[in-house]
Parts: sequence; C-alpha cells; structure tokens
Amino acid sequence: YDPQVPTYQTSDPTSFAFISARERWPAIVTGAIDDVHRTVASLPDSEIDAVAEGKSIVAGLATLKYELQHNRALTPIPDDGQPDVAGYHAELAARGPPTWHDVEWLYSECYLYRRMATLFSRAQTPFWKSYDVFQRQKMDTFKSSRPAVLELAGRYRDIITQIRSSRDHKVINNSSGSPETEKEKEAEKMLFVEMAEICLWGNATDLSLLTSLTYEDLQKLQGSRARKESEKNVLVNDLGSAFEVLYAAQRTSQANATGPSASSRRVDIVLDNAGFELFVDLILAGYLLATGLATEVVLHPKSIPWFVSDVVPADFAALLNAMQDPKTFYAPPAAAGTKDRSGKDAVAVGAGRDTPALSDKDAELIQFLFDDWSSLHAEGQLILRPSRFWTHAGSFWRMPHTAPEVFEDLKESELVIFKGDLNYRKLTGDAAWSPTTPFTTAIGPLGPSSGIRTLALRTCKADVVVGLPEGKDEEIRKASQGDDVEARKWAWSGKWAVVQFSDGKA
Ligand code: F6P
Ligand code: MG
Repeated sequence: YDPQVPTYQTSDPTSFAFISARERWPAIVTGAIDDVHRTVASLPDSEIDAVAEGKSIVAGLATLKYELQHNRALTPIPDDGQPDVAGYHAELAARGPPTWHDVEWLYSECYLYRRMATLFSRAQTPFWKSYDVFQRQKMDTFKSSRPAVLELAGRYRDIITQIRSSRDHKVINNSSGSPETEKEKEAEKMLFVEMAEICLWGNATDLSLLTSLTYEDLQKLQGSRARKESEKNVLVNDLGSAFEVLYAAQRTSQANATGPSASSRRVDIVLDNAGFELFVDLILAGYLLATGLATEVVLHPKSIPWFVSDVVPADFAALLNAMQDPKTFYAPPAAAGTKDRSGKDAVAVGAGRDTPALSDKDAELIQFLFDDWSSLHAEGQLILRPSRFWTHAGSFWRMPHTAPEVFEDLKESELVIFKGDLNYRKLTGDAAWSPTTPFTTAIGPLGPSSGIRTLALRTCKADVVVGLPEGKDEEIRKASQGDDVEARKWAWSGKWAVVQFSDGKA
C-alpha cells in the first residue's frame, strides 16, 4: 500500500535521516535517561519497587542508546499487550532486520519511540506504567512560551468578544446571524487565515528539534512579528480553498436549517505537539466554533509519548489545568533548598526561572481562554479522539487497509487538518518525490475521491516536500546553501512552510 517512490533512509548522507540517526536520536534517548534518573532521585526511599523499576528502565534506555550508537540491528519490540506490536514485528522481519544506520527513516524513527514506550507500558508499578518521559520537557517549554501565550490570549479574547457581540447585534436586528456581504466574507476569511497561520507557526517549535535550538530561539519564533516576517516563507498557501469549503458548508447548512440548530459540521485536527502548539490549535478550534465555520472540532492525539513533544490525552488535561490556575503555573519554581534524593536542588530546568509572577490582568486573560475551552469541551463541541493508528510505523497511505475505522470516521469531517512535519511525512509516505509532484498525487489514497478533505499545515523539518512551483527548490537551495546544494538542507529547520489542500470529496 506504500508509494512506488523510494523512501528516505538513514544511510543516505544527503538526508536529514543520516544526522537524525547518528546525532539527534542518541541525544533524545540521553534526555529520557536523565529524566527517569531525576524522577528516581526524587522518589522517597519507601518506594522501593518504583525505585528499582526506575533503575531498570534507565538500563533499558541505555541499551537502546548503545544499540543505536553502535549500529546494531533493530530487535523485536517486547510485547506489551497492544496489537500494534505485531505490525512493528512483521515489518521488522520483512525488512531484514535492518541496522540503525541503514534503515528506512520513517519506520525506524517510529520504532524508536514505540520501543521506548514499551519500557514503561510493561512496567509493574502503576507509577511507571503511566509515566510520560517527555512530560517535564513539554510543560517546561510551554512555560517558556509565556510572552507569546499572553499576546495570543489577548488577541483571542478580543476576536471572540467581537464575534459574540456582532452575533448578538444581528439577532437583535432579526437577521440570520450569518455574514451577508462580500466585504463581511472577506473579513471573515482574513481572520481565518490569521488564525490558521498562528496555528501553522506554532508547529515551528517542537521539542525533537530542541537538540539544536535554545529556548530563546523558540521564543523568537512565536511572536506576531515573527509570524509577519515568516509570511514570505510559506511556499504554498491553500488556506483560501480551505476557507471556501468551510464557508460554503456553513451557508448550505444555514439555508437548509429549519430550526435554530443547523446541521452539524465537523472539523478534525490531527494534532502534533503539546504545549504551545496545542495552545494555538485550541485557538483555531475555538475560533472555528465561535464563528460557526464548524459546529464540532475533533482532536486526534497520540496514545503513547511520541516524537518527544506530541500530544497525549494527559497533555490536554495538563494544559487546561495550568490555565485554570495560571498564577500557580507561572509561579517561580520551588524555593532553593528543596533537595531530591541525590542531593540536587529540586527546581524546574530551563524555563520560567527568572520570569516575574503573573499579574492579575494576565491571569484573568488566561482564565478567559480556560473558561471558553473547558466549556466547549464539556458541551461536546471539542472532542478528543485517540487511536493507536497514529503511532503505527506506516504512512497514511496504509490507512484504508490498516485503520479502516479511522478512514471512515475522517470522511464524516468537512475538513481534516494535519498538523506538523511528521504528519506531512506520513501523508506523503516520506518518499523522495520530485518537489513539483502535485500534493494530491503524493498523498495517494487520501487524495482525489478518497472522500476526505485534507489540509496540511506544515513547517518543513525533513526532506520530503511536494507541490512546489518548478524551480523553487533549486532556487532556495542556491540562495540559502550556496554551492552546497546536494542535500535539501533548507527544508530541515522549520524556517519554511507549506499549507496544502486536497478536496478529496468524491
Ligand atoms: O526533523 C526532525 C523531526 O523530529 C522529524 O524527524 C519529525 O518528522 C519532525 O521533526 C517532528 O516534527 P513535528 O513535531 O512537526 O511533527
Ligand atoms: Mg511532533
């Protein structure tokens, strides 16, 4: 079911896969070892079983790191009772088994996270069974995004308040509450584009790239000025088409409505990263629901810790919790003097240490968003729908066969928004397409006549890219890489983006 085009391999020195397998992944596993180590050190001595199990998890991670660095073969993933292990297994056997430095990029990177997850899911103590080895990092980076969070929260409150008051105004004047003139439609479209672009650039800040970016770099990527400057870096922008379909669906449903409740129109977001990116995803979701461009937003998180920063359901809860009590969340970390078992200061790492306490005004602002999103969630307009399919190793080309229930479910949606780089790699099969290949071709079974409307919001952090105008790839290679044009390095850093649409409705 995979594309007939060769996929990217960790043996290819011109691919980001090469550096990933040799430098980035060992650094990520080292980070996981440090995290478990710290947690073990913070456990009270009375937790004998958890301490012992934590140490054996550290040993398991160290083995994985050794195998990775010494180019050993990928070994079968120990059974943890989940059916996807069989799929990983069968593919591993069919592939050789391969070694770390000569294996398909997509398969091996998914295998890496699946294998780490097994160390926890096979644990005997409840403490480690539900442990997310990346959780600390995810929350720390969200904390460090505070300036951008406050800026966006202010913008969101203004927009939502304005939408509500203009709706109330229309109701008082006995009109339908829908935008009527071309001018109003244009204004609505501009806001949609703004919200979607906020959502797009929120993806530039994922943690699997943090091995090469600092917290300061991340903050610079998040503000409105950065977004404005980045507009020219969106190489393809199909947001206009996506708006048209949502707008048309809204008009049709209003025209057909007999009572006050027009028919349901669903937008799906296949989530990528937690923290700041999830925050901006909720901004888009809240906006779509407030305007009526959607009546329901379904969010698809991962079921296991994934690619460091991806959203698991607990991250959604953690974000809302943080926003419910923002003063506590943003309070300076634990006072020095609190020691863990190893005698180190038990303070948060990296983010938030020097920032002042949150003002009452800012706390209120964040609570406005909390009230809005938690009531949308409670009322069933904002839904979380996990599936193990999202952490399979295969690309989305396999979806109709390996996850027909997900495929059928997505057909119910007006628009499925796929966030981020990994989702884009999976949409396109992570294959070495010519960069001018139409997006609709590269997504195979999700393309024409699939019955699924797809919108990819992706900042480029890997080699694959499609749908570019003739000569664009060469032009950027030349401009940003000089004579070093063999690899597509420009597409690795998250500086460039593509927003691509496929109207898969039959
Ligand atoms: O490029 C680095 C990388 O980790 C890729 O391996 C992966 O596809 C991507 O980043 C994850 O980024 P995102 O969180 O945007 O999917
Ligand atoms: Mg991610």
